[in-house]
Amino acid sequence: MKNFDSEKHVRGESLFLDDIPIPEGTLHAHVCYSKIAHGTNLRIDTSEALKMNGVHAIFTAKDIPGENQIGNIVLDEELFGAHGVHFVGQPIAVVVADTPFNARYASEAIIVEVDKLPVITDPRVAQSKNELIVPPIKFLLGNTEQAWKECDVIVSGVAESGGQEHLYLETQCALAMPTEGGVKIISSTQSPTAVQRVTARVLDMPMHKIEVDVIRLGGGFGGKEDQATPWAAMAALAATKLHRPVKLVLHRQDDMRMTGKRHPYSSDFKIGLKKDGMIHAYEVSFYQNAGAACDLSPPVLSRSLFHCTNSYFIPNVSAVGYCCRTNLPPNTAFRGFGGPQGMFVIESAIAKAAEVMKIDRHVIQKKNLLNEGDEFPYGQKTEQCQTRTSWNALEKKISVDKVRSDIEKFNSSNQWKKKGFALMPICFGISFTNTMMNQASALVHIYTDGSVGISTAAIEMGQGVNMKIVRTAERVFSIPIDWIRIETTNTTRIANTSPTAASSGADLNGKATYFACVELLKRLKKLAAEELKQEDEAKIEMRNGVIFNSGKETELAWKKLITVAHQKRISLSEHHHYATPKIHFDVKTSKGHPFAYHVFGTALIQATVDCLRGIYEIDSVDAVHDFGMSLHPAVDLSQAEGGIMQGIGWMTLEEVVYNSEGKLLTDALSTYKVPDIQFAPKRVRVDFLENSENTFGPFNSKAIGEPPFMYGIGAFFAIREAMKAFRPDQEFQFKAPVTSERVLTSLYSKVAALEPSLQ
Ligand code: MTE
Ligand code: HPA
Ligand code: MOS
Repeated sequence: MKNFDSEKHVRGESLFLDDIPIPEGTLHAHVCYSKIAHGTNLRIDTSEALKMNGVHAIFTAKDIPGENQIGNIVLDEELFGAHGVHFVGQPIAVVVADTPFNARYASEAIIVEVDKLPVITDPRVAQSKNELIVPPIKFLLGNTEQAWKECDVIVSGVAESGGQEHLYLETQCALAMPTEGGVKIISSTQSPTAVQRVTARVLDMPMHKIEVDVIRLGGGFGGKEDQATPWAAMAALAATKLHRPVKLVLHRQDDMRMTGKRHPYSSDFKIGLKKDGMIHAYEVSFYQNAGAACDLSPPVLSRSLFHCTNSYFIPNVSAVGYCCRTNLPPNTAFRGFGGPQGMFVIESAIAKAAEVMKIDRHVIQKKNLLNEGDEFPYGQKTEQCQTRTSWNALEKKISVDKVRSDIEKFNSSNQWKKKGFALMPICFGISFTNTMMNQASALVHIYTDGSVGISTAAIEMGQGVNMKIVRTAERVFSIPIDWIRIETTNTTRIANTSPTAASSGADLNGKATYFACVELLKRLKKLAAEELKQEDEAKIEMRNGVIFNSGKETELAWKKLITVAHQKRISLSEHHHYATPKIHFDVKTSKGHPFAYHVFGTALIQATVDCLRGIYEIDSVDAVHDFGMSLHPAVDLSQAEGGIMQGIGWMTLEEVVYNSEGKLLTDALSTYKVPDIQFAPKRVRVDFLENSENTFGPFNSKAIGEPPFMYGIGAFFAIREAMKAFRPDQEFQFKAPVTSERVLTSLYSKVAALEPSLQ
């Protein structure tokens, strides 16, 4: 099995935005942005820049016909800074010229001045000054105050996780073309409707005058859920002002500087256990570094709370999250959507408890895994629970005791190299936590030659959602796969779309497609029964493009049947809207049933640390993952492998660094390290959990996009175990990413405590 896009991809035949031949007369835009993180009394002088070669126009806030506002949850973000600036990289103006080079060159000649204000980059400092974007979010279960008295061991600490650059291969881009009274935008966005809505607001036009079309994305990873919008709005503004097509493609470095990333978190935890290792109480405070505007920070923060107990049942939980405004680019959605940040803290708390209790970390983990019916802090009960089944299946595949003893043997016979391992169970809720967003629709056309065209709200960004939608239609219609085509995602065909996100793209759009196809098939079967003079419609069956009557092949083939349907004036098109049933959530009480279901799994990660140099290797990842009944095993497996690598990268090499003035220091691939093939583990083996049913997903399948990312957290703890083997006396911080520099400095931070042989 392979993804039907693969061949086109490797031949370079797949179209991305930058491959589209541009219309004659297209102009090119470049964004001029603030180099100061915080300032007021903004003065912009474009006079010199306007005189430069090839420049057609420069637009700033005062040129916007509608509102200078791109906010979504909170209306707190300007398209162009109007009176002041709030982060380095904030757009101030857009230069439009005949070539990309001339636009870029001219933008350097724009003079921007502000009166500087103090810069905040630390979320805890922001919280202490009450710089919160929304009020604190709280989740409560049981009674922690009472529970502390019943604990035998209580440990507390601090855990910190860093940002992460999305590094989609295709940078942010848009192409806007004036249409009769409106504008058509080809955009690289996960959310065409967000682009449409915001552009309509900026241009003061009704939404129906803005058409947004998306072919496919060269990666999104959450970075194009909200943050593809401003570039499209700028291109549309310029196109409507100049009556010319305008193309805007961000340079890699500008993209890295201007766009937000995964939210860094600093968190306090307190965990209480009984003597036998049962976790009795957990308290956690998340300080989320939201950046300078709201963007998606509140739902990202609430997902940290949703996943603050990961795969464990803890009867008494008190969790609070602070959404802290700082002078950094607004941070945004990134695979896992706050879930990884929440899980990192509980895993740190368990690690610290294990160290204090002098037992293995995985012993506490295993003891406390969720059981069927256990309640999450948000009120939902565990259903079709696969925590222990996946853990046990993994232990069958690879003996944890043997791994442990092999590593001990290795460590006792090697002075400088040390190994460590960690288990990492995951439990991830599937659905947008904002119930309203869990809807999608599909429009299915059967053309008179029998070929099928499907439009949905889903955005293909490499995750294979189109393949899964094709499989869905193929299974319902039972026709060859190459008779089915997935159209671009377009707001005039599919309106009011939720972003393709929350790992629900295939579930929501797959279900909508399924029901649309079922409806069409019903019509066709009725017709076939009439044609074949069969009174019982149930005896009519479609098999690989041929109609069977009472189990016998007939002369009537799919294509013929379609021709007859058209002759008889039967509709060959169907639109279906799907909304996830059962789910609800009350934000006031933080209780409800927000998720259609959960995805489970367990991984074991092993690492080797060179304790002389601080460098390390991830030796292996073995996992048993709950895919449900996979719609496409090859696509799902590659999602799992890719997610795991991205998760390991977040925990190890990838370090986003801003200086105290809010300037990004890691703004190129020379300073921002991502995992490459050399760094990839020698073995990544992900097995499919057997007999996993999921009555809530299409054809019993499960969402796959985000959950495997969180196995990567195991890499942090595997490296930490290896470090502990070298320096058992040392207390290491829970601070990710654990870069080689950090490994080295923490291994040798208390030089006086070193054994004489090491000094
Ligand atoms: N895989 C690839 N190749 N490229 C991507 O941009 N995005 C991830 C995941 N896998 C992404 C990816 C994220 S953040 C999400 S939410 C899901 O895919 C979205 O797609 P789905 O809902 O169809 O799984
Ligand atoms: N996940 C991903 N993206 C989202 C969500 C969510 O829960 N809510 C809003 N956007
Ligand atoms: Mo994914 S972070 O929900 O786009």
